[in-house]
Formats: sequence, C-alpha cells, structure tokens
Amino acid sequence: MTEPAPAARLVVLVSGSGSNLQALLDAATDPAYGARVVAVGADRTGIAGLDRAANAGVPTFVAELSAYPSRTDWDRALTAHVAEHRPDLVISAGFLKLVGPHFLAAFGDRYLNTHNSLLPAFPGMHGPRDALAYGVKVAGATLFFVDAGVDTGPIVAQVTVPVLDDDDEQTLTERIKVAERRQLVEQIGRLVRDGWTITGRKVTIP
Ligand code: GRF
Repeated sequence: MTEPAPAARLVVLVSGSGSNLQALLDAATDPAYGARVVAVGADRTGIAGLDRAANAGVPTFVAELSAYPSRTDWDRALTAHVAEHRPDLVISAGFLKLVGPHFLAAFGDRYLNTHNSLLPAFPGMHGPRDALAYGVKVAGATLFFVDAGVDTGPIVAQVTVPVLDDDDEQTLTERIKVAERRQLVEQIGRLVRDGWTITGRKVTIP
C-alpha cells in the first residue's frame, strides 16, 4: 500500500476579515484536499482573520511595520516568522502590505496573492471601486504568483462576475469575494496536488 502524500503546508497572511482564509481552513478539514494551514500571519492585531485562525487551532504571528526601525527590518522579521513554519506555499489573502526583497528571495517562487480585480486592470487597493468607476460590465478576481511589482506577477487563474446596473462598491465587492474564495480553494488544491510550471508569464498546472 502506498502512503498518501503528506498535506502541503500553507502559511496564510491576512490583514482583515479573513474570509478567504476561512475558506482554506474549511477546505483543509478534508484530508483529500492535500493541504493544511500551518500558520497565519498578520501585519496588525485585532482582526477577525487572527480570530479565525485561533478558532481553528492554527498558530498565529504578527509583524507590525511600526514595531521595526525600517521596512527592511520588518521584511526580514516577516520572512523569519514565515520560514519558521516551513511552508510549501505562502498565500496573501487580503494582506495589505507589499513584502520586500528578502521575503521574495525566500518565497518568491511560492508566494501567491488573490486580488479582487481582473488583472492587469485595476491593481492596487480599490479594485471593485475602480472597476465600477470605469464602467466595466464584468469584474472578478485574479490569483497570481507575487513578483516585485504591484499585482503584476504571473497569473494562475481568473474568475469573472457580472457588474449589475445597481451595484455599489459593497455589492460588487461581495459578489467578487464569493467567486474569489471558490477560486482560491480550487486553485490552491490543484497547485499542491498537481504541481505547476512557470514559463515566462505563463503558469501551467498539468
Ligand atoms: C479580498 O477580496 C482580496 O482580493 C482583497 O481583500 C479581500 C480580503 O478579504 N485584497 P478577506 O479578508 O479574505 O475576507
């Protein structure tokens, strides 16, 4: 009998409500999923994302930028915290900080971010707001490998949702998040179970 492959180790970084984190925590309760969340990190205290981790019995760490003399020191500290948990993948799920060169040197080949727009349109902090202001008719979410730019890395997957005539920022944001969470769970599962290659900008999951 062959042993099942050990579950891949996920470290998830959050700054807010952590509903994407929750979706991963829920998926990982099934051993067939192939991954488990071994730690959750944040750049601030007092957020629901950290409570969700604690409720699931997952260890947490916090690296606040203001606690370090420089951004470089913070980057090194964040890297050390994450490294301690020996992740196979690191996932930014609503983590509102750009990591630095030290972090990317350690995890740049396995650090993913989920963003609430159809990149390369509407990068940055206000994807749904910017999409509404532009008047687009479809919006969505993008899962990508993080590089040194802002929301510029190689794309793993995208999902679309309609923009409705009576949408405001909140209704569109919520519609995107429902599709985004489903995509995140599905694609992280595929990555850990099947592996991937990146050729130029093109990500392929066999
Ligand atoms: C997600 O929509 C993500 O794209 C954006 O922030 C949101 C995080 O939501 N950057 P949550 O904290 O996972 O609920």
